[in-house]
Amino acid sequence: MSTTTNSAPKLWGLPDERELAAFAAGRLAEYLPGLAYPAAGYAPGPEAGEPNPSYAPLVVAQDGATPGAQAASDAGAPVSPPRQAALPYVGEYPLEKIRADFPILAEKIKGRQLVWLDNAATTQRPGQVIERLRYYYEHENSNVHRGAHALAGRSTDAYEGARAKVAAFIGASGPESVVFVRGATEALNLVANAYVRPLLRPGDEIILTLLEHHSNIVPWQILAEETGALLRVAPVDASGQILVSEYAKLFNRNTRFVSVTHVSNALGTVTPLEELIAVAHARGVRICVDGAQSVSHMPVDVSALDADFFAFSGHKIFGPTGIGVLYGKSELLEAARPWQGGGNMIADVTFARTSYKKAPEKFEAGTGNIAGAVGLGAAIDYVSAIGMDNIARYEQELLAYGIDELRRVPGLRPVGTATRRAGVLSFVLDGRNPEDVGRYLNEAGIAVRAGHHCAQPVLRHFGYEATVRPSIAFYNTPGEIEHLARTLLSLARLHG
Ligand SMILES: Cc1ncc(COP(=O)(O)O)c(C=O)c1O
Repeated sequence: MSTTTNSAPKLWGLPDERELAAFAAGRLAEYLPGLAYPAAGYAPGPEAGEPNPSYAPLVVAQDGATPGAQAASDAGAPVSPPRQAALPYVGEYPLEKIRADFPILAEKIKGRQLVWLDNAATTQRPGQVIERLRYYYEHENSNVHRGAHALAGRSTDAYEGARAKVAAFIGASGPESVVFVRGATEALNLVANAYVRPLLRPGDEIILTLLEHHSNIVPWQILAEETGALLRVAPVDASGQILVSEYAKLFNRNTRFVSVTHVSNALGTVTPLEELIAVAHARGVRICVDGAQSVSHMPVDVSALDADFFAFSGHKIFGPTGIGVLYGKSELLEAARPWQGGGNMIADVTFARTSYKKAPEKFEAGTGNIAGAVGLGAAIDYVSAIGMDNIARYEQELLAYGIDELRRVPGLRPVGTATRRAGVLSFVLDGRNPEDVGRYLNEAGIAVRAGHHCAQPVLRHFGYEATVRPSIAFYNTPGEIEHLARTLLSLARLHG
């Protein structure tokens, strides 16, 4: 260790990061000579806006080994040796390398390799997102928009940079159309309360569909109860697809708003969104799309769709929990009243009156989940590097394979059989309680959701209180699907 790195920081003026690090390194070396502290190589993090290789998207090159890949392949036996030997590609990326980016996929459950098929509930995070969060807290953490100091600049750049990434990812006209919220649930509540509530008079009507998640039912129900408005519900056919002609019949002169899902979390139905939006707009009615189950499975372009609002959650697209997005057309966000009051959303406050900032800040009162937004930006970088069209193509093949594999299980009845589906393989097994099936699969290391999936109306419509719901992401393999089908086969054969 050279004497210069051992010298103490200046006594007046503030030491810069490099000096502090060098000082600490010298001291640590004194007390803990064996410790490898990166003194000589230490460099403060890049300035905000500069690329940081530690969280660059998808570091796995097609032919280059990565440390993560090594760790994953060292971690344990493959799920299904024959399939694992020749895993497919997602776009130009080999699946084993993609899987190596997700540390948790190497986890063992009851001594078995984890098979994560609960992606509709939440997805797993790649190392790039985890590292981005760490980097944020190590080098950028500060409140945003509020300080003249360097870290406030870094965190604001990172936060606003994430907003710009989201806007580009969903085809928004600009970042001002992207509001950061807690998740899809909060986004839908925001639309209901900030935009729709002031429009409603007793007798007005809001159209939903039978496919909705409770998050896209209950806020509207509360609103209806409090304003005297009514909910109208578009029905589905036997496959679980929305009957567009019936939906169109629900419109009348009292219709004030429509809110529909893009993909059903319980059945996997991909709704005919273009038509649903066109019908609403032809009648002069605005429409909100619950995209919680679509953004991670297919390219989404809110401008091409002409969606008025679009909601999704970060944790369902490989980002952190506690962060989500509400997209709204600029003029609608401007027309909406504030959602919550507090700091960050105001232009000026007196006790007589307050003026508000424009959207999106108008809807971001208080200190939000800054790190979460930055992590979501990293998740978007990650999936964008692979390509959402590649992800969609791969998942469609895997889903078709899953449908075929599950057909081999005697007594298994799929719930939701629409031609256009994404992500979800819901079913019941004759004579078996769905929760018991879920527990049996867990013994084999397979994580699926068993229950009502927060979509009781549509499950009850099909005569069920609960189903078993394996749900896929682009890191799932055909071998995992085979393992699922084999495990279900063995369960179906038990006791007869
Ligand atoms: C279709 C749909 N909408 C909304 C939500 C609510 O998402 P969150 O709990 O992240 O707010 C979910 C969650 O499962 C969902 O599947």
